[in-house]
Amino acid sequence: MSENELLYVTKENAEWWRSAVIYQIYPRSFADGNGDGMGDLKGVTDRLESLAELGIDAIWFSPFFKSPQKDAGYDVSDYKDIDPLFGTLHDFDTMLAKATKLGIRIIVDLVPNHSSDQHALFQAALKAPKGSPEREMYMFRDGKGLFGNKEPNNWKSVFGGNAWSRITEPNGKKGQWYLHIFDASQPDFNWDNPKVVEYFDGVLRFWLDRGVAGFRIDVAHGMKKRKGLPDTKKASTEMGGAKAEDQMTIEELEEQNPFWGQPEVHEINKRWRKILDEYDDRVMCGEAWIMPLNRMASWVGPGEYHQTFNFGYMFADWKKEAQRKSINESLEAFGKVGAPSTWVFSNHDVIRHVSRFGMVNGVPQGDGIGPNSEQPDEAVGLRKGRAATAFMLGLPGGAYLYQGEELGLPEHTTLEGKYREDPTWFRTNGERVGRDGCRVPLPWESGSNESNGFSTKTGNGWLPQPGSYKRYARDLQVGQPGSTLELYKSLLKIRKAHDLGAGNFAWAPEFENENSLAYVNKGVLVLANFDGHPITLPAGEILVTTQHDLRVEGELEHDQTVWIKLS
Ligand code: NOJ
Repeated sequence: MSENELLYVTKENAEWWRSAVIYQIYPRSFADGNGDGMGDLKGVTDRLESLAELGIDAIWFSPFFKSPQKDAGYDVSDYKDIDPLFGTLHDFDTMLAKATKLGIRIIVDLVPNHSSDQHALFQAALKAPKGSPEREMYMFRDGKGLFGNKEPNNWKSVFGGNAWSRITEPNGKKGQWYLHIFDASQPDFNWDNPKVVEYFDGVLRFWLDRGVAGFRIDVAHGMKKRKGLPDTKKASTEMGGAKAEDQMTIEELEEQNPFWGQPEVHEINKRWRKILDEYDDRVMCGEAWIMPLNRMASWVGPGEYHQTFNFGYMFADWKKEAQRKSINESLEAFGKVGAPSTWVFSNHDVIRHVSRFGMVNGVPQGDGIGPNSEQPDEAVGLRKGRAATAFMLGLPGGAYLYQGEELGLPEHTTLEGKYREDPTWFRTNGERVGRDGCRVPLPWESGSNESNGFSTKTGNGWLPQPGSYKRYARDLQVGQPGSTLELYKSLLKIRKAHDLGAGNFAWAPEFENENSLAYVNKGVLVLANFDGHPITLPAGEILVTTQHDLRVEGELEHDQTVWIKLS
Protein backbone atom coordinates (compact mmCIF):
# COMPACT_ATOMS: atom_id res chain seq x y z
CA MET A 1 0.00 0.00 0.00
CA SER A 2 1.37 3.45 -0.80
CA GLU A 3 2.45 5.73 1.99
CA ASN A 4 0.07 8.57 1.36
CA GLU A 5 -2.87 6.76 2.88
CA LEU A 6 -5.53 9.35 3.43
CA LEU A 7 -7.83 8.88 6.35
CA TYR A 8 -10.99 10.09 4.80
CA VAL A 9 -14.02 9.77 6.96
CA THR A 10 -14.15 8.47 10.48
CA LYS A 11 -17.12 6.77 12.08
CA GLU A 12 -17.52 9.65 14.49
CA ASN A 13 -18.33 12.19 11.80
CA ALA A 14 -20.04 9.86 9.40
CA GLU A 15 -23.29 11.71 8.80
CA TRP A 16 -25.43 9.76 6.38
CA TRP A 17 -24.78 11.97 3.35
CA ARG A 18 -21.01 11.55 3.59
CA SER A 19 -21.20 8.04 2.24
CA ALA A 20 -24.69 7.92 0.70
CA VAL A 21 -25.60 6.67 -2.74
CA ILE A 22 -28.14 9.13 -4.08
CA TYR A 23 -30.26 8.21 -7.09
CA GLN A 24 -31.52 10.97 -9.36
CA ILE A 25 -35.09 10.69 -10.58
CA TYR A 26 -36.02 12.76 -13.60
CA PRO A 27 -39.78 12.79 -12.90
CA ARG A 28 -40.85 13.17 -16.53
CA SER A 29 -39.19 9.88 -17.43
CA PHE A 30 -39.13 7.53 -14.46
CA ALA A 31 -42.62 5.98 -14.57
CA ASP A 32 -46.01 7.18 -15.74
CA GLY A 33 -48.68 6.23 -13.21
CA ASN A 34 -51.72 7.84 -14.88
CA GLY A 35 -51.21 6.91 -18.52
CA ASP A 36 -50.74 10.38 -20.00
CA GLY A 37 -47.26 9.61 -21.35
CA MET A 38 -45.54 11.79 -18.75
CA GLY A 39 -43.83 10.37 -15.68
CA ASP A 40 -45.39 11.39 -12.36
CA LEU A 41 -45.27 10.98 -8.60
CA LYS A 42 -47.75 8.12 -8.58
CA GLY A 43 -45.51 6.28 -11.04
CA VAL A 44 -42.60 6.75 -8.64
CA THR A 45 -44.60 5.63 -5.62
CA ASP A 46 -45.73 2.50 -7.44
CA ARG A 47 -42.15 1.59 -8.37
CA LEU A 48 -40.30 2.57 -5.19
CA GLU A 49 -39.68 -1.04 -4.18
CA SER A 50 -37.39 -1.43 -7.19
CA LEU A 51 -35.18 1.35 -5.81
CA ALA A 52 -35.16 -0.17 -2.34
CA GLU A 53 -33.99 -3.43 -3.96
CA LEU A 54 -31.30 -1.55 -5.83
CA GLY A 55 -29.92 -0.46 -2.46
CA ILE A 56 -29.82 3.32 -2.70
CA ASP A 57 -29.93 5.63 0.33
CA ALA A 58 -31.73 8.65 -1.07
CA ILE A 59 -33.47 10.04 -4.13
CA TRP A 60 -32.86 13.47 -5.62
CA PHE A 61 -35.84 14.56 -7.68
CA SER A 62 -35.36 16.96 -10.57
CA PRO A 63 -38.09 19.62 -10.32
CA PHE A 64 -41.75 18.62 -10.15
CA PHE A 65 -42.98 22.06 -9.09
CA LYS A 66 -45.59 24.07 -10.98
CA SER A 67 -44.00 25.07 -14.24
CA PRO A 68 -44.82 25.83 -17.87
CA GLN A 69 -42.11 23.22 -18.65
CA LYS A 70 -40.14 25.45 -21.01
CA ASP A 71 -36.97 23.96 -19.52
CA ALA A 72 -38.47 20.68 -18.31
CA GLY A 73 -39.39 22.08 -14.90
CA TYR A 74 -36.27 24.20 -14.29
CA ASP A 75 -38.62 27.13 -14.95
CA VAL A 76 -40.68 27.22 -11.77
CA SER A 77 -43.89 29.24 -11.54
CA ASP A 78 -44.80 28.13 -8.00
CA TYR A 79 -42.09 26.78 -5.69
CA LYS A 80 -44.57 25.50 -3.12
CA ASP A 81 -46.81 23.38 -5.30
CA ILE A 82 -46.59 20.36 -7.58
CA ASP A 83 -47.31 20.70 -11.27
CA PRO A 84 -50.52 18.86 -12.25
CA LEU A 85 -48.40 16.94 -14.78
CA PHE A 86 -46.75 15.19 -11.84
CA GLY A 87 -49.61 15.09 -9.34
CA THR A 88 -50.45 16.99 -6.17
CA LEU A 89 -48.89 17.81 -2.81
CA HIS A 90 -50.88 14.89 -1.46
CA ASP A 91 -49.18 12.58 -4.00
CA PHE A 92 -45.85 13.96 -2.84
CA ASP A 93 -46.68 13.23 0.80
CA THR A 94 -47.77 9.70 -0.11
CA MET A 95 -44.53 9.10 -2.00
CA LEU A 96 -42.46 10.57 0.86
CA ALA A 97 -44.20 8.40 3.45
CA LYS A 98 -43.62 5.24 1.44
CA ALA A 99 -39.99 6.12 0.71
CA THR A 100 -39.39 6.80 4.40
CA LYS A 101 -40.81 3.38 5.27
CA LEU A 102 -38.43 1.83 2.75
CA GLY A 103 -35.49 3.69 4.31
CA ILE A 104 -35.04 6.08 1.37
CA ARG A 105 -34.58 9.81 1.96
CA ILE A 106 -35.99 12.40 -0.44
CA ILE A 107 -34.04 15.40 -1.73
CA VAL A 108 -35.74 18.06 -3.84
CA ASP A 109 -34.32 20.40 -6.45
CA LEU A 110 -34.29 24.09 -5.57
CA VAL A 111 -34.06 26.48 -8.53
CA PRO A 112 -33.16 29.86 -7.00
CA ASN A 113 -31.20 31.58 -9.77
CA HIS A 114 -34.28 32.19 -11.90
CA SER A 115 -38.00 31.52 -11.97
CA SER A 116 -40.39 31.00 -14.84
CA ASP A 117 -41.60 34.13 -16.60
CA GLN A 118 -45.06 32.91 -15.54
CA HIS A 119 -44.19 33.22 -11.84
CA ALA A 120 -46.53 35.69 -10.11
CA LEU A 121 -43.52 37.81 -9.07
CA PHE A 122 -42.31 38.21 -12.65
CA GLN A 123 -45.80 38.88 -13.95
CA ALA A 124 -46.16 41.59 -11.30
CA ALA A 125 -42.80 43.05 -12.34
CA LEU A 126 -43.95 43.29 -15.96
CA LYS A 127 -47.07 45.17 -14.93
CA ALA A 128 -45.29 47.51 -12.53
CA PRO A 129 -43.35 50.60 -13.67
CA LYS A 130 -39.61 50.86 -14.12
CA GLY A 131 -37.82 51.30 -10.78
CA SER A 132 -40.72 49.77 -8.80
CA PRO A 133 -40.13 47.27 -5.96
CA GLU A 134 -41.72 44.60 -8.21
CA ARG A 135 -39.08 45.14 -10.90
CA GLU A 136 -36.38 45.01 -8.22
CA MET A 137 -37.11 41.33 -7.66
CA TYR A 138 -35.47 40.57 -11.04
CA MET A 139 -32.60 41.96 -13.10
CA PHE A 140 -34.19 44.71 -15.20
CA ARG A 141 -31.95 47.24 -16.93
CA ASP A 142 -32.29 49.95 -19.57
CA GLY A 143 -30.85 49.07 -22.95
CA LYS A 144 -27.82 50.74 -24.46
CA GLY A 145 -27.87 53.14 -27.40
CA LEU A 146 -29.94 56.21 -28.08
CA PHE A 147 -33.24 54.34 -28.01
CA GLY A 148 -32.23 51.72 -25.52
CA ASN A 149 -32.57 49.07 -28.20
CA LYS A 150 -29.24 47.35 -27.56
CA GLU A 151 -28.69 44.75 -24.84
CA PRO A 152 -27.36 46.20 -21.56
CA ASN A 153 -24.19 44.07 -21.90
CA ASN A 154 -22.65 41.26 -23.97
CA TRP A 155 -23.54 38.29 -21.77
CA LYS A 156 -24.61 35.12 -23.57
CA SER A 157 -27.25 32.61 -22.54
CA VAL A 158 -25.98 29.12 -21.65
CA PHE A 159 -28.59 27.81 -24.09
CA GLY A 160 -27.34 30.03 -26.92
CA GLY A 161 -28.14 33.58 -28.04
CA ASN A 162 -28.21 36.70 -25.87
CA ALA A 163 -28.82 36.66 -22.15
CA TRP A 164 -31.23 39.64 -22.35
CA SER A 165 -34.77 40.05 -23.62
CA ARG A 166 -36.68 43.27 -24.02
CA ILE A 167 -40.14 43.79 -22.61
CA THR A 168 -43.11 45.78 -23.75
CA GLU A 169 -43.96 48.26 -21.01
CA PRO A 170 -47.54 48.51 -19.64
CA ASN A 171 -47.96 51.60 -21.88
CA GLY A 172 -47.39 49.45 -24.98
CA LYS A 173 -43.93 50.85 -25.78
CA LYS A 174 -40.70 48.89 -26.04
CA GLY A 175 -38.98 49.22 -22.69
CA GLN A 176 -36.47 47.69 -20.34
CA TRP A 177 -34.50 44.49 -20.72
CA TYR A 178 -34.31 41.58 -18.25
CA LEU A 179 -31.47 39.17 -17.73
CA HIS A 180 -31.84 35.44 -18.30
CA ILE A 181 -28.70 33.36 -18.11
CA PHE A 182 -30.80 30.50 -19.50
CA ASP A 183 -33.94 30.67 -21.64
CA ALA A 184 -35.92 33.89 -22.11
CA SER A 185 -38.67 32.14 -20.14
CA GLN A 186 -36.29 31.95 -17.12
CA PRO A 187 -35.68 35.50 -15.76
CA ASP A 188 -32.84 35.77 -13.21
CA PHE A 189 -33.76 36.87 -9.71
CA ASN A 190 -32.04 39.89 -8.17
CA TRP A 191 -30.19 38.30 -5.27
CA ASP A 192 -29.01 41.70 -4.03
CA ASN A 193 -32.59 42.35 -2.98
CA PRO A 194 -33.32 41.20 0.62
CA LYS A 195 -36.90 40.45 -0.46
CA VAL A 196 -35.60 37.69 -2.77
CA VAL A 197 -33.48 36.31 0.04
CA GLU A 198 -36.47 36.23 2.39
CA TYR A 199 -38.69 34.69 -0.23
CA PHE A 200 -36.34 31.73 -0.65
CA ASP A 201 -35.93 31.28 3.11
CA GLY A 202 -39.65 30.55 3.05
CA VAL A 203 -39.34 28.08 0.19
CA LEU A 204 -36.60 26.18 2.00
CA ARG A 205 -38.61 25.97 5.19
CA PHE A 206 -41.72 24.89 3.34
CA TRP A 207 -40.01 21.74 2.03
CA LEU A 208 -37.94 21.08 5.16
CA ASP A 209 -41.10 21.23 7.27
CA ARG A 210 -42.70 18.75 4.87
CA GLY A 211 -39.94 16.30 5.67
CA VAL A 212 -37.46 16.40 2.79
CA ALA A 213 -33.89 15.38 3.55
CA GLY A 214 -32.50 18.39 1.76
CA PHE A 215 -31.87 20.13 -1.52
CA ARG A 216 -29.94 19.88 -4.70
CA ILE A 217 -29.34 23.53 -5.54
CA ASP A 218 -29.59 24.43 -9.21
CA VAL A 219 -26.98 26.81 -10.66
CA ALA A 220 -25.69 27.41 -7.15
CA HIS A 221 -22.79 29.45 -8.50
CA GLY A 222 -24.89 31.89 -10.54
CA MET A 223 -27.06 33.82 -8.13
CA LYS A 224 -24.88 36.88 -7.56
CA LYS A 225 -23.72 39.03 -10.47
CA ARG A 226 -20.72 41.37 -10.47
CA LYS A 227 -21.67 44.94 -9.52
CA GLY A 228 -22.37 47.09 -12.57
CA LEU A 229 -22.89 44.00 -14.77
CA PRO A 230 -19.72 44.61 -16.82
CA ASP A 231 -19.16 43.10 -20.26
CA THR A 232 -17.19 39.87 -20.40
CA LYS A 233 -13.99 39.86 -22.42
CA LYS A 234 -14.97 36.66 -24.13
CA ALA A 235 -18.62 35.68 -23.83
CA SER A 236 -18.96 31.97 -23.08
CA THR A 237 -21.94 29.61 -22.96
CA GLU A 238 -20.21 27.17 -20.61
CA MET A 239 -21.71 26.56 -17.15
CA GLY A 240 -18.32 27.31 -15.63
CA GLY A 241 -17.55 30.13 -18.05
CA ALA A 242 -14.73 28.25 -19.81
CA LYS A 243 -13.81 24.81 -20.99
CA ALA A 244 -11.25 22.84 -18.97
CA GLU A 245 -9.04 22.72 -22.05
CA ASP A 246 -8.98 26.54 -22.20
CA GLN A 247 -6.40 26.18 -19.42
CA MET A 248 -7.18 29.56 -17.90
CA THR A 249 -5.54 30.89 -14.79
CA ILE A 250 -7.79 31.57 -11.82
CA GLU A 251 -7.42 35.31 -12.41
CA GLU A 252 -8.43 34.96 -16.04
CA LEU A 253 -11.39 32.81 -15.08
CA GLU A 254 -12.57 35.31 -12.49
CA GLU A 255 -12.16 38.22 -14.88
CA GLN A 256 -14.04 36.36 -17.56
CA ASN A 257 -16.99 35.33 -15.38
CA PRO A 258 -19.00 38.26 -14.00
CA PHE A 259 -21.95 36.00 -13.28
CA TRP A 260 -20.40 32.74 -12.14
CA GLY A 261 -18.94 32.03 -8.73
CA GLN A 262 -18.97 35.57 -7.35
CA PRO A 263 -17.58 35.72 -3.78
CA GLU A 264 -20.89 37.13 -2.48
CA VAL A 265 -22.64 33.79 -3.14
CA HIS A 266 -20.98 32.47 0.02
CA GLU A 267 -23.33 34.69 2.04
CA ILE A 268 -26.28 32.81 0.60
CA ASN A 269 -24.60 29.44 1.17
CA LYS A 270 -24.04 30.29 4.82
CA ARG A 271 -27.56 31.57 5.35
CA TRP A 272 -29.07 28.37 3.96
CA ARG A 273 -26.72 26.14 5.90
CA LYS A 274 -27.90 27.80 9.11
CA ILE A 275 -31.51 27.13 8.15
CA LEU A 276 -30.75 23.46 7.39
CA ASP A 277 -28.85 23.11 10.64
CA GLU A 278 -32.03 23.99 12.55
CA TYR A 279 -33.31 20.60 11.38
CA ASP A 280 -31.80 17.12 11.91
CA ASP A 281 -29.55 15.55 9.31
CA ARG A 282 -30.48 17.61 6.27
CA VAL A 283 -28.18 18.05 3.33
CA MET A 284 -27.57 20.53 0.56
CA CYS A 285 -25.67 19.66 -2.56
CA GLY A 286 -24.65 22.43 -4.92
CA GLU A 287 -24.60 22.37 -8.68
CA ALA A 288 -21.64 24.71 -8.67
CA TRP A 289 -19.49 24.68 -11.77
CA ILE A 290 -16.50 26.19 -10.04
CA MET A 291 -13.12 25.46 -11.50
CA PRO A 292 -10.56 24.32 -10.56
CA LEU A 293 -11.60 21.88 -7.84
CA ASN A 294 -9.61 23.54 -5.09
CA ARG A 295 -11.71 26.68 -5.63
CA MET A 296 -14.86 24.60 -5.39
CA ALA A 297 -13.64 23.24 -2.06
CA SER A 298 -14.26 26.65 -0.52
CA TRP A 299 -17.95 26.02 -1.10
CA VAL A 300 -18.17 22.94 1.09
CA GLY A 301 -17.43 22.21 4.70
CA PRO A 302 -18.66 23.58 7.99
CA GLY A 303 -20.98 26.49 7.50
CA GLU A 304 -21.58 26.08 3.76
CA TYR A 305 -22.60 23.25 1.43
CA HIS A 306 -22.43 19.65 2.63
CA GLN A 307 -21.60 18.51 -0.88
CA THR A 308 -21.10 19.80 -4.40
CA PHE A 309 -21.17 17.77 -7.58
CA ASN A 310 -17.73 16.74 -8.69
CA PHE A 311 -17.97 17.72 -12.34
CA GLY A 312 -14.21 17.34 -12.75
CA TYR A 313 -14.62 13.63 -12.11
CA MET A 314 -17.72 13.42 -14.26
CA PHE A 315 -15.69 14.48 -17.27
CA ALA A 316 -12.52 12.55 -16.48
CA ASP A 317 -11.78 10.09 -19.28
CA TRP A 318 -11.89 6.38 -18.69
CA LYS A 319 -8.11 6.28 -18.82
CA LYS A 320 -5.62 5.35 -16.17
CA GLU A 321 -3.91 8.72 -15.78
CA ALA A 322 -7.11 10.73 -16.05
CA GLN A 323 -8.75 8.66 -13.31
CA ARG A 324 -5.74 8.82 -11.05
CA LYS A 325 -5.35 12.56 -11.45
CA SER A 326 -9.02 13.35 -10.90
CA ILE A 327 -9.32 11.12 -7.83
CA ASN A 328 -6.17 12.59 -6.30
CA GLU A 329 -7.34 16.14 -6.92
CA SER A 330 -10.79 15.40 -5.54
CA LEU A 331 -9.67 13.67 -2.36
CA GLU A 332 -7.11 16.33 -1.71
CA ALA A 333 -9.31 19.35 -2.40
CA PHE A 334 -12.36 18.13 -0.48
CA GLY A 335 -10.34 16.29 2.17
CA LYS A 336 -8.57 19.52 3.14
CA VAL A 337 -11.84 21.08 4.22
CA GLY A 338 -13.17 17.92 5.84
CA ALA A 339 -15.87 17.43 3.21
CA PRO A 340 -16.63 14.21 1.37
CA SER A 341 -15.97 14.17 -2.33
CA THR A 342 -18.90 13.23 -4.48
CA TRP A 343 -18.60 10.95 -7.49
CA VAL A 344 -20.89 11.08 -10.47
CA PHE A 345 -20.84 10.09 -14.13
CA SER A 346 -24.31 10.84 -15.47
CA ASN A 347 -27.23 13.19 -15.00
CA HIS A 348 -30.02 14.81 -17.02
CA ASP A 349 -27.69 17.40 -18.58
CA VAL A 350 -24.91 15.21 -19.96
CA ILE A 351 -24.60 12.37 -22.42
CA ARG A 352 -25.11 9.09 -20.57
CA HIS A 353 -21.68 7.79 -19.59
CA VAL A 354 -21.99 4.45 -21.37
CA SER A 355 -22.44 6.45 -24.57
CA ARG A 356 -19.70 8.97 -23.77
CA PHE A 357 -17.24 6.15 -23.20
CA GLY A 358 -18.29 4.61 -26.52
CA MET A 359 -17.22 7.71 -28.48
CA VAL A 360 -13.85 8.28 -30.05
CA ASN A 361 -14.19 12.07 -29.81
CA GLY A 362 -15.73 13.95 -26.92
CA VAL A 363 -18.84 16.11 -27.22
CA PRO A 364 -19.06 19.47 -25.39
CA GLN A 365 -21.38 19.41 -22.39
CA GLY A 366 -24.94 20.31 -23.36
CA ASP A 367 -24.46 19.82 -27.10
CA GLY A 368 -25.82 16.26 -27.25
CA ILE A 369 -25.58 13.62 -29.96
CA GLY A 370 -27.95 13.72 -32.93
CA PRO A 371 -28.61 11.51 -35.96
CA ASN A 372 -25.92 13.39 -37.93
CA SER A 373 -23.23 13.18 -35.25
CA GLU A 374 -20.56 10.52 -34.82
CA GLN A 375 -22.37 7.60 -33.16
CA PRO A 376 -21.05 5.83 -30.05
CA ASP A 377 -20.07 2.15 -30.08
CA GLU A 378 -22.74 0.67 -27.81
CA ALA A 379 -20.91 -2.50 -26.74
CA VAL A 380 -17.59 -0.75 -26.07
CA GLY A 381 -19.36 2.01 -24.17
CA LEU A 382 -21.34 -0.37 -22.00
CA ARG A 383 -18.28 -2.39 -21.10
CA LYS A 384 -16.29 0.70 -20.21
CA GLY A 385 -19.25 2.28 -18.42
CA ARG A 386 -19.73 -0.74 -16.18
CA ALA A 387 -16.02 -0.85 -15.39
CA ALA A 388 -16.01 2.88 -14.63
CA THR A 389 -19.03 2.66 -12.32
CA ALA A 390 -17.46 -0.19 -10.36
CA PHE A 391 -14.27 1.84 -10.07
CA MET A 392 -16.25 4.84 -8.82
CA LEU A 393 -18.49 3.03 -6.34
CA GLY A 394 -15.53 1.68 -4.38
CA LEU A 395 -14.38 5.21 -3.55
CA PRO A 396 -15.09 6.84 -0.20
CA GLY A 397 -17.57 9.72 -0.28
CA GLY A 398 -21.04 10.25 -1.68
CA ALA A 399 -22.06 8.83 -5.04
CA TYR A 400 -24.77 10.01 -7.41
CA LEU A 401 -26.49 7.72 -9.91
CA TYR A 402 -28.79 8.83 -12.70
CA GLN A 403 -31.98 6.87 -13.38
CA GLY A 404 -31.50 4.19 -16.00
CA GLU A 405 -27.75 3.84 -15.62
CA GLU A 406 -28.43 0.77 -13.46
CA LEU A 407 -29.90 -0.76 -16.64
CA GLY A 408 -26.90 0.30 -18.75
CA LEU A 409 -29.17 2.52 -20.85
CA PRO A 410 -27.45 4.29 -23.71
CA GLU A 411 -28.21 7.83 -24.83
CA HIS A 412 -30.93 8.12 -27.50
CA THR A 413 -28.60 9.38 -30.22
CA THR A 414 -30.97 9.35 -33.19
CA LEU A 415 -33.92 11.23 -31.75
CA GLU A 416 -35.63 13.19 -34.50
CA GLY A 417 -35.85 16.97 -34.25
CA LYS A 418 -39.65 16.93 -34.11
CA TYR A 419 -39.54 15.34 -30.64
CA ARG A 420 -36.95 17.58 -29.09
CA GLU A 421 -37.91 19.86 -26.20
CA ASP A 422 -34.60 21.16 -24.86
CA PRO A 423 -34.41 24.96 -25.23
CA THR A 424 -30.83 24.53 -26.47
CA TRP A 425 -32.24 22.94 -29.63
CA PHE A 426 -34.56 25.88 -30.29
CA ARG A 427 -32.14 28.65 -29.33
CA THR A 428 -29.40 27.33 -31.63
CA ASN A 429 -31.69 26.35 -34.52
CA GLY A 430 -30.75 22.74 -34.07
CA GLU A 431 -27.01 23.35 -34.22
CA ARG A 432 -26.67 21.96 -30.68
CA VAL A 433 -29.18 19.13 -30.42
CA GLY A 434 -29.27 19.44 -26.63
CA ARG A 435 -29.98 17.12 -23.75
CA ASP A 436 -33.15 15.22 -24.65
CA GLY A 437 -31.18 12.08 -25.52
CA CYS A 438 -30.45 11.32 -21.87
CA ARG A 439 -34.00 12.15 -20.72
CA VAL A 440 -35.88 9.39 -22.50
CA PRO A 441 -38.48 7.37 -20.48
CA LEU A 442 -37.22 4.23 -18.76
CA PRO A 443 -38.11 0.74 -20.06
CA TRP A 444 -39.65 -1.39 -17.30
CA GLU A 445 -41.28 -4.41 -18.95
CA SER A 446 -39.87 -5.38 -22.32
CA GLY A 447 -42.40 -5.27 -25.14
CA SER A 448 -45.41 -4.87 -22.82
CA ASN A 449 -46.43 -1.80 -24.86
CA GLU A 450 -44.74 0.88 -27.01
CA SER A 451 -42.99 2.43 -24.02
CA ASN A 452 -41.90 -0.93 -22.58
CA GLY A 453 -44.03 -0.44 -19.51
CA PHE A 454 -43.02 3.17 -18.77
CA SER A 455 -46.61 4.22 -19.25
CA THR A 456 -49.64 2.29 -18.06
CA LYS A 457 -51.34 3.00 -21.39
CA THR A 458 -50.38 2.49 -25.01
CA GLY A 459 -48.39 5.01 -27.04
CA ASN A 460 -44.93 6.47 -26.65
CA GLY A 461 -44.00 8.40 -23.59
CA TRP A 462 -43.32 12.13 -23.99
CA LEU A 463 -40.13 11.14 -25.84
CA PRO A 464 -39.94 7.90 -27.81
CA GLN A 465 -37.39 5.31 -26.72
CA PRO A 466 -34.78 4.04 -29.16
CA GLY A 467 -35.36 0.45 -30.37
CA SER A 468 -32.54 -0.85 -28.18
CA TYR A 469 -34.42 -0.02 -24.94
CA LYS A 470 -36.48 -3.17 -25.39
CA ARG A 471 -33.32 -5.17 -24.73
CA TYR A 472 -32.43 -3.12 -21.67
CA ALA A 473 -35.82 -3.33 -19.94
CA ARG A 474 -35.66 -3.92 -16.22
CA ASP A 475 -37.71 -7.12 -16.20
CA LEU A 476 -35.19 -8.81 -18.50
CA GLN A 477 -32.37 -7.97 -16.11
CA VAL A 478 -33.86 -8.83 -12.72
CA GLY A 479 -32.19 -11.92 -11.33
CA GLN A 480 -30.03 -12.36 -14.46
CA PRO A 481 -26.42 -12.98 -13.43
CA GLY A 482 -24.18 -10.56 -15.26
CA SER A 483 -26.92 -8.05 -16.11
CA THR A 484 -26.09 -4.42 -15.46
CA LEU A 485 -28.93 -4.22 -12.93
CA GLU A 486 -27.58 -7.15 -10.92
CA LEU A 487 -24.09 -5.69 -11.17
CA TYR A 488 -25.28 -2.39 -9.66
CA LYS A 489 -27.16 -4.23 -6.92
CA SER A 490 -24.06 -6.22 -6.00
CA LEU A 491 -21.86 -3.13 -6.02
CA LEU A 492 -24.21 -1.24 -3.72
CA LYS A 493 -24.67 -4.20 -1.41
CA ILE A 494 -20.95 -4.83 -1.03
CA ARG A 495 -20.23 -1.12 -0.73
CA LYS A 496 -22.63 -1.00 2.20
CA ALA A 497 -21.48 -4.26 3.79
CA HIS A 498 -17.87 -3.06 3.83
CA ASP A 499 -18.81 0.55 4.60
CA LEU A 500 -16.71 1.71 1.64
CA GLY A 501 -18.46 5.08 1.43
CA ALA A 502 -17.08 5.92 4.86
CA GLY A 503 -13.85 4.10 4.23
CA ASN A 504 -10.24 5.07 3.84
CA PHE A 505 -8.41 5.16 0.58
CA ALA A 506 -4.93 4.33 -0.60
CA TRP A 507 -3.54 3.71 -4.04
CA ALA A 508 -2.14 0.19 -4.34
CA PRO A 509 0.53 0.28 -7.08
CA GLU A 510 1.84 -3.14 -6.05
CA PHE A 511 -1.22 -4.67 -7.75
CA GLU A 512 -0.94 -2.64 -10.97
CA ASN A 513 0.72 -3.10 -14.30
CA GLU A 514 1.14 -0.25 -16.76
CA ASN A 515 -2.46 -0.42 -17.97
CA SER A 516 -4.23 -0.85 -14.70
CA LEU A 517 -5.03 1.16 -11.62
CA ALA A 518 -5.65 -0.17 -8.13
CA TYR A 519 -6.67 1.16 -4.75
CA VAL A 520 -7.57 -0.39 -1.45
CA ASN A 521 -10.48 0.75 0.68
CA LYS A 522 -11.14 -1.07 3.98
CA GLY A 523 -9.29 -4.18 2.87
CA VAL A 524 -11.15 -4.30 -0.46
CA LEU A 525 -8.92 -4.06 -3.52
CA VAL A 526 -10.52 -2.25 -6.46
CA LEU A 527 -8.58 -3.01 -9.60
CA ALA A 528 -9.37 -1.76 -13.11
CA ASN A 529 -7.69 -2.81 -16.31
CA PHE A 530 -7.96 -0.06 -18.90
CA ASP A 531 -6.38 -1.63 -21.91
CA GLY A 532 -3.91 -4.11 -23.28
CA HIS A 533 -2.77 -7.25 -21.53
CA PRO A 534 -4.84 -9.17 -19.04
CA ILE A 535 -3.62 -8.95 -15.44
CA THR A 536 -3.31 -11.95 -13.18
CA LEU A 537 -5.48 -11.43 -10.14
CA PRO A 538 -3.97 -11.43 -6.67
CA ALA A 539 -5.10 -13.92 -4.03
CA GLY A 540 -8.31 -13.11 -2.24
CA GLU A 541 -12.04 -13.48 -2.51
CA ILE A 542 -13.52 -12.01 -5.69
CA LEU A 543 -16.47 -9.96 -4.48
CA VAL A 544 -17.68 -8.65 -7.82
CA THR A 545 -16.44 -8.25 -11.38
CA THR A 546 -17.88 -6.18 -14.21
CA GLN A 547 -17.59 -8.84 -16.90
CA HIS A 548 -19.41 -11.91 -15.78
CA ASP A 549 -17.73 -14.20 -18.28
CA LEU A 550 -14.05 -13.90 -17.35
CA ARG A 551 -12.38 -15.38 -20.44
CA VAL A 552 -9.47 -16.88 -18.61
CA GLU A 553 -10.16 -17.61 -15.00
CA GLY A 554 -7.98 -15.61 -12.67
CA GLU A 555 -7.27 -12.87 -15.20
CA LEU A 556 -8.72 -9.42 -15.61
CA GLU A 557 -9.16 -8.29 -19.19
CA HIS A 558 -9.33 -4.81 -20.69
CA ASP A 559 -12.02 -2.40 -19.51
CA GLN A 560 -12.96 -4.54 -16.60
CA THR A 561 -13.00 -3.81 -12.86
CA VAL A 562 -12.89 -6.27 -10.02
CA TRP A 563 -13.36 -5.95 -6.25
CA ILE A 564 -11.32 -8.44 -4.21
CA LYS A 565 -11.36 -8.93 -0.45
CA LEU A 566 -7.63 -9.29 0.16
CA SER A 567 -6.63 -12.30 2.17
C1 NOJ B 1 -29.03 23.17 -14.44
C2 NOJ B 1 -30.02 22.08 -14.64
O1 NOJ B 1 -29.43 20.87 -14.29
C3 NOJ B 1 -30.43 22.15 -16.08
O2 NOJ B 1 -31.19 21.05 -16.48
C4 NOJ B 1 -31.18 23.45 -16.31
O3 NOJ B 1 -31.48 23.58 -17.68
C5 NOJ B 1 -30.34 24.64 -15.87
N1 NOJ B 1 -29.69 24.43 -14.61
C6 NOJ B 1 -31.20 25.86 -15.72
O4 NOJ B 1 -32.02 25.74 -14.60
